[in-house]
Amino acid sequence: MSVIVTENLTRYYKDLCAVDHVDLEVGREIFGLLGPNGAGKSTIVKMLTTLLRPSDGRACVCGHDVVKDAVRVRESISYVPQEMALDIKLTGRENVVLFARLYGVPNARDRTDEALGLLGLADRADELVRGYSGGMRRRLELAQALVHEPRVLFLDEPTLGLDVAAREKIWEHVHALKEKGMTIFMTTHYMDEADRYCDRVAIIDRGKISAIGTPQGLKGEIGRSVVTASVSGEPGAFSLEGVRLLKVDDHELVFMAGDGADALAAISQELKRQGLEIHSLSVRETSLDDVFLQKVGTPEDRSAFDGSKYRLMLRRR
Ligand SMILES: Nc1ncnc2c1ncn2[C@@H]1O[C@H](COP(=O)(O)OP(=O)(O)O)[C@@H](O)[C@H]1O
Ligand SMILES: [Mg+2]
Repeated sequence: MSVIVTENLTRYYKDLCAVDHVDLEVGREIFGLLGPNGAGKSTIVKMLTTLLRPSDGRACVCGHDVVKDAVRVRESISYVPQEMALDIKLTGRENVVLFARLYGVPNARDRTDEALGLLGLADRADELVRGYSGGMRRRLELAQALVHEPRVLFLDEPTLGLDVAAREKIWEHVHALKEKGMTIFMTTHYMDEADRYCDRVAIIDRGKISAIGTPQGLKGEIGRSVVTASVSGEPGAFSLEGVRLLKVDDHELVFMAGDGADALAAISQELKRQGLEIHSLSVRETSLDDVFLQKVGTPEDRSAFDGSKYRLMLRRR
C-alpha cells in the first residue's frame, strides 16, 4: 500500500511555480527527493507535512488528505526541518520531553529515554544543546521526531553541513528506522548519499520531476560506464555500437557506454583509427551525478546536453 501519494501537486509563490504538477507514490522505503537549491524540495515536504497549502492538486499521507485531514496527517508523521529547530538553552533531554508532551505521549519520560538511547545520546542527554556538535544536534532532532512513534518521517536535508562520520551515523539510524517499518521521505542534494542509502529517488529540477526509480535502475538507463579520453588532434564523428559521445571539452572526450571493458577497447581502436594521439583513457561506473546531469544538466549547460549541439561542436573543431 502507498504511504504517500501526490497527484498534480502544485505550489505557486506569486507567479513562481515552485512545485509543478508532481505525481509521486511512496511505499515503505527510504525515498529521496534529489535536486539543486531552489528545485522545490522543501516546498514539497512542507505541503506533505501540512505546513503549506497546495495551490493545486492533492496529496495523501497514510491515507489522509493533507488539507482536509491535516490533523490526522500530523498524528502519523514527524518532520525534521532543514533549519535547526532545537532550543539550545535547554538540555537534550528537555528538548525531547517538550516534544513528547506537545504530542501528548503517555510515559513521556520513558519514551524520551528510549529515543535518546536509540540515537546514542543517553550519556550526553543532560548537557545543554548549545555544547552539542552538528551531528549530535541532528541526532537529537531525530530523537525528538521519534518520540511519538510516527509512521512516516520527513527529513529535509538531514546531513547538510555535517562531516562524513556524522553523516554516516545519521544514515545508519535512518536505515535502522526503515528496518523497523517506518517510511522515510527525505531530501538531499548529496547524490552519492542518495545512491548508497535510498531505495528509490526522484530527481527534481525547477519544480518538475524529471526521473524516478531505484539508483541502480536510473544509472542503468543512461549506461553503466563513463569513459573519458584525453587526446590531441581533431576528433571526427563517432558511431560505435552501444557507445554515445556525451561531450567534448578541449581535448577531453566523454562517452557513455553499457559495458565498460568492451567500450574501452572499441573507443581506443576508433580514436587510433582517427589518427588521434591518446594521452589517457579511463573508465568508471556511472553515478547518480551523471544521471542528474543527463536528465537535468547544470543551468549553464542544460542546452548543451542536447546531443545535436555536441555533434555541432565536434564538427566545428
Ligand atoms: N516563502 C517563499 N516565498 C517566495 N518564494 C519562495 C518561498 N519559499 C521558497 N521559494 C522559492 O521557491 C523555489 C523552491 O524553493 P524550495 O522549495 O525551498 O527549494 P529547495 O528546498 O529545493 O532548495 C525557489 O525558487 C525559492 O526561491
Ligand atoms: Mg530546501
